[in-house]
Parts: sequence; C-alpha cells; structure tokens
Amino acid sequence: MNQLEILRESLGQCDEIILDALLMRNRIVEDIMAYKKSNDLPILQPEQEAKQKEWLEKRMEKKRHKAEVEDVFRSITMNSKRIQSRKLFNYNIVLIGFMGAGKSTISEFLKNSFAMEVIEMDQIIGEREGMTISDIFEVYGEQYFRNLETNLLIEMQSKTNVVISCGGGTPMRECNVVEMKKNGRVVLLTAKPETILDRVKDSHDRPLIENNKTVPFIADLMEKRREKYEAAADIIIETDGKDELQICEELILRLRQMDNK
Ligand code: S3P
Repeated sequence: MNQLEILRESLGQCDEIILDALLMRNRIVEDIMAYKKSNDLPILQPEQEAKQKEWLEKRMEKKRHKAEVEDVFRSITMNSKRIQSRKLFNYNIVLIGFMGAGKSTISEFLKNSFAMEVIEMDQIIGEREGMTISDIFEVYGEQYFRNLETNLLIEMQSKTNVVISCGGGTPMRECNVVEMKKNGRVVLLTAKPETILDRVKDSHDRPLIENNKTVPFIADLMEKRREKYEAAADIIIETDGKDELQICEELILRLRQMDNK
C-alpha cells in the first residue's frame, strides 16, 4: 500500500465510526422520546438544546475547523428534530383561528423545535400571485382569494409532517375543512378580542379589520365565525396568557391523546 491508500483506508475507518455513532445516536433519540412519553414528561426541552450548544462551543474553543464541525452538529440536531417530529406527527398539523390568534407564531415555534416545514398560506398565495393579500382582495375580490386557499389545501394533501398555517377565514368554507382534514389534524387557536387587538394593532395586511381595529368589531366578527371554527377543530387551545412553549406543549399533548384513543 502506498501512502495515499493508507490514508484513504484511515478515512474509511473514520467514516465507519461516524456512521455507527450516528446510528447509535438516532436510536438514543428515539429512546429518549419513548421515555418522555411513558413518563409524561414534556417533549420540548429547549434548555437541553442550549446545553448541547454550550458544550460544543467549549469543546471547539480555538480549535481548527470550528465552523465545519459546528455545521455538522447543526445538521445532526436538525435531523434529531426530524426524527422526533416524524414519530410524533405522521400527518399535517393545520392551524386555524382568528387573525392574531397566534397561527404564524406557533408555526414558527414548531418549525424551530421540530425542523418541520411550514406552509404559511397567506404568504405562499401572496408570493405566487406577486401581490399582497390586501391587493388580491382589492383587485380580484374575496372569492378569488378563497378559491386560491382551497386549491392550496388540496395541494398540501400530498405532503406529510408539515405545519399549515391557514388564513383566518380559511375554515369558513366547508369544502376547505373537508380538504384540511384529509391529511391533517386541525388545531384551533383562540384568544380574547382584547388580546387579538393588542397583537394586530400595528400590522396593516389584514383588509377585513384594517379600518375597524376595535374590540367590539373584532368580538363581533369572532362570534360570527366561532361556530365554524369550533366545528372544524379537532382540538382547541386557548392562547391568552401563555407563552409559545406552553402552547406547543399543550398542542403536542392533546394531539398525542387523540392518537392514543
Ligand atoms: C383573513 C385573515 C388573514 C388573511 C386575509 C383574510 C380572514 O389571515 O387570510 O386577510 O378572513 O380572517 P391571518 O389570520 O393570518 O391574519
């Protein structure tokens, strides 16, 4: 063997070690999940991720290839999250609720916690049409926008393990609810009108309330929609006074309870 062949053989041995370690790590991730489930512990433990980051930072201090190693660990962490989320949710999570109920915020939190893909319906529709939601309403009318929503929901049925963050009005159409449920569990997020007003007061991309940002108007529209929201929901989560972590833990627990049935 010449020097090059020897080096290549050593590299191959390294890869074997990495591969075995990765397989072992993934098994441990699954075992941790199972342990948390059977002992009713919270699935999300962000402090654990912070600890791992800190450990790596210390271990790699002033070392060569710090950025490269960190990149690999980022990828390992992402994949652990994916393993967890696929085990937890073999369907799509469809978030519904009034404007400002927290659909986008909770989607983002789920994305960070479980490396799940997020389909932000308003954003995708806006991008595809090359217009803001307000402009779509103004130029083509609400019906046109609602049809785009229905088509997008149908398109999403071919995916699995994604979070679909609906527009506030999406579940008002019965056909949309039918489409959501084909491959999704529907989670209704609720909040008091006062909370909603506080969350939406500074944004200007919601044509239905743009000129009526008041508690009575919001309360009235919310009441008109309540029955349809509740009929569409598999689970309902109140968001007032809770942080994202609490809301997501509740969401995970309630979805798991649905599955255990
Ligand atoms: C709407 C809610 C908005 C957006 C559009 C119509 C509604 O979405 O789809 O302005 O009918 O409630 P958000 O709930 O994300 O604000």
